[in-house]
Amino acid sequence: MLKYDFLVIGSGIAGLSYALKVAQKLPDAKIAIVTKSDENESNTKYAQGGIAVVLDQIKDSYESHIKDTLKAGDGLCNEAIVRAVVTEGPDRFDELVQWGVDFDKKNAGEYDFGLEGGHSKNRILHHKDITGAEIEKRLLRQVHMLSNVKLFSQYFAVDLITQHQLVEDFKGTSKNIQCFGAYIFNADTKKIETFSAKTTMLASGGIGQVYQNTTNPIIATGDGIAMAYRAKAAIENMEFIQFHPTAMYNPLESPSFLISEAVRGFGALLRNKSGETFMHLYDDRNELASRDIVSRAIDSELKKSGDDFVYLDCRHINQADFKRHFPNILQKVNELGIDLAKDMIPVVPAAHYLCGGINVDENGQTGVKNLYACGECTNTGLHGANRLASNSLLEALVFAHRSFVKSVEKLDETRAPGHIPDWNEEGTSEPKELILITHNRKELQILMNDYVGIIRTDERLHRAAKRLHILYEETEDLYKKSKISPQIIELRNMLSVAYIIIQQSLARKENRGGFYKA
Ligand code: FAD
Ligand code: SIN
Repeated sequence: MLKYDFLVIGSGIAGLSYALKVAQKLPDAKIAIVTKSDENESNTKYAQGGIAVVLDQIKDSYESHIKDTLKAGDGLCNEAIVRAVVTEGPDRFDELVQWGVDFDKKNAGEYDFGLEGGHSKNRILHHKDITGAEIEKRLLRQVHMLSNVKLFSQYFAVDLITQHQLVEDFKGTSKNIQCFGAYIFNADTKKIETFSAKTTMLASGGIGQVYQNTTNPIIATGDGIAMAYRAKAAIENMEFIQFHPTAMYNPLESPSFLISEAVRGFGALLRNKSGETFMHLYDDRNELASRDIVSRAIDSELKKSGDDFVYLDCRHINQADFKRHFPNILQKVNELGIDLAKDMIPVVPAAHYLCGGINVDENGQTGVKNLYACGECTNTGLHGANRLASNSLLEALVFAHRSFVKSVEKLDETRAPGHIPDWNEEGTSEPKELILITHNRKELQILMNDYVGIIRTDERLHRAAKRLHILYEETEDLYKKSKISPQIIELRNMLSVAYIIIQQSLARKENRGGFYKA
């Protein structure tokens, strides 16, 4: 058994910034970060547009950012949390800069604030169109300089350790459950190792891979949410899946490449296949309406025309300016033979962000004792029914900080766990046919795309629930017999996440923000 003071699951912006702060504050504490893939693989790495922060109190204001966030969230945000996140933003941003993250400036040396949908002011700080990659690189560099943090990559968290594993027939209510660490699969040895910890932080990111069309990388399978669900933590607002309006349409590529909303902020226009603009028919803000509105508008155009995609037109934008702001996007479209001076980019909405997740309080504490969560896996109250663009990197930083303060403060009263039994593999063997897993994963993704998409109906949701139950039974049967592998664990987690999304979609009676039932 490996013993740590802090176990952090996930190496995106949430997990890394939390670990960094704890390690700097408590040089004697032992901190482990486990991450299931390469150390930088995460949603964070692919973030393009940037981070929404009010730095310029003359041209912008906290009140304006708060108002925009509340408007996007459509009545379901927790206003106190919105206020806290927005007003703490500048301090968290300064820390990023101190950690070496480089944000674009204009010639005069002022920050270059970008514009995205739903924002009434230019307030998106960015590093070209690869903001996330820059943040991830710098945070990793800082973490590697700390001798009290050990980062384990290719280590896959399988389950949280709670009384369920320690006490036979544990019948505790969700009120008295505690977390003592996690069982982690070491991809090298193929063995499950026991990581005991006084404090566990879930920073395991989003769920996009539950859908066939998504901008999220392959790691985004909702593992942390499923683990927390099994540990009886409350999970809410899972029906609020944000679909990004402009993922590039390319059936040969998965995940879908994102064309940042900042490109529309820069003047790009949406056109149907006949070349007509259409956003004015749906919202006064045209292309810069909030994402739920733009995605539904595109969906409606596609349903009317029977087409597979609409176009994003950048032909009128100065090409040199475009290259300066969006070099990564330009390179990608050029590789596909698209010349932005002459051609338009085919785009389609894709699952992009989970607004809900594991319920946490204002300090990142879940309902399970000694278990914290931050980042995309959480439901903090910031986003309500729909996240405002570029508010998620900010949320991750603010909640990593708040969780750091609270968990360090509580460390003294947190006892180290006693003996924890090893993972029990009795009666399991290597699965003979991986196709049983890969087929069910694909079936699940198609089912979610077709039946639990941008516009839902009770009929489709009921169908989805029925089909899901079959996949669930088959997978549980296989799981009981099989040695643990990331593939089977991910499938099982994705099924749990899909189940919660469907049940919470069925339960929601009125349309709000990103949730729309016809
Ligand atoms: P992640 O960055 O996804 O990190 C999760 C980590 O957990 C990963 O290291 C993963 O490997 C690990 N993990 C998961 N499961 C396990 C397991 N079982 N065991 C061990 N490790 C595990 N937001 C913005 O604010 N601005 C943007 O411009 C922006 N652009 C985006 C563009 C794209 C293409 C995408 C996909 C998202 C974008 N977002 C943006 C959203 C934002 O990137 C994410 O919400 C944010 O990065 C989430 O950070 P995180 O640390 O919570 O999760
Ligand atoms: C984008 O660049 O369009 C993504 C921004 C976000 O998801 O917040």
